Amino acid sequence: MLEPMAQFFENRIEDYEEHMLLGIDSAWMFYPYTAAKLPQFAGAKVLDLGCGTGLELDYYFKINPEAKITGIDLSSKMLDKLRSKFEDKEIELICGSYFDVSFGKNCFDAAVSVESLHHFTMEEKIPLYTKLCSSLKDKGYFVLTDYFAMSNGEEKAFRDELLSLKTKEGIGDELVHFDTPLTVEHEIESLIKAGFSSVEVTKSWGATHTIIALSS
Ligand SMILES: C[S@@+](CC[C@H](N)C(=O)[O-])C[C@H]1O[C@@H](n2cnc3c(N)ncnc32)[C@H](O)[C@@H]1O
Repeated sequence: MLEPMAQFFENRIEDYEEHMLLGIDSAWMFYPYTAAKLPQFAGAKVLDLGCGTGLELDYYFKINPEAKITGIDLSSKMLDKLRSKFEDKEIELICGSYFDVSFGKNCFDAAVSVESLHHFTMEEKIPLYTKLCSSLKDKGYFVLTDYFAMSNGEEKAFRDELLSLKTKEGIGDELVHFDTPLTVEHEIESLIKAGFSSVEVTKSWGATHTIIALSS
C-alpha cells in the first residue's frame, strides 16, 4: 500500500537516522561530502529542501556552527526532531511542500537537498528549480545529493509502477512515498532548463551522485 509522504517518514521516525546512516550505501561518505561543499563562512544562509531530521546539518554545523539555515519539510515530526537536535542554532523551519512554499529572491548563499527529490518528474522539478535558482544570490549554488536511475528504461519502469499502483489504489495527485528517481542526465537537463548556469556532477558513489548547480 502506498503511504502519504509525510506519514511514511513519521511511521519510521524512531529508526530513521540509524536506517539512513547504516542502511544506505555510502551515507557515511556522502553526508560529510555534501556538508563540506556548503559555504564555510560564518552567517552563510542556506536553504535545505526536505531537511527531515537534519542529518546533513549534523555534519554542516560541525564545519560551520554559525550558518543560518532555512529548512523545509512536509513532516512536522521530522522537523520537531531536527529542532531538538539543534536548539542553540539559527534555524527557521517551515512545515510544507517545497513545491508550494515561497523561497524569496536573491536571499540564500546556497541550497542543499539530500535524499528527498527522487520522487518527482522533470515537469515537477523545472518550476521548483526555477524558483530555487532565483532565490539564490549572485554566485549562489545548489548542492544536490541523491540517488538516480541507471537508465531511461529504469526511470520509466519506476514511474510506470507508481502510476499503476496509484490507479489500483484510487490515488490522485496526493504526494505518496514511492521512489521514482530520474537519470542524472534528466536531472541535469531540469536544472539547466530552470536557469542554472553551470551544472556538474562532482562525486559519485554507485547510483548516488552529488550535483552542484551554479545560479549565475
Ligand atoms: C529520506 S528523507 C531525507 C531527509 C534528510 N535530507 C536526510 O538526508 O536525512 C526525505 C525527506 O524529504 C521530505 N519531503 C519529501 N517530499 C517533500 C516535499 N515535496 N516538500 C518538503 N519535504 C518533502 C520528507 O518528508 C522527508 O523528511
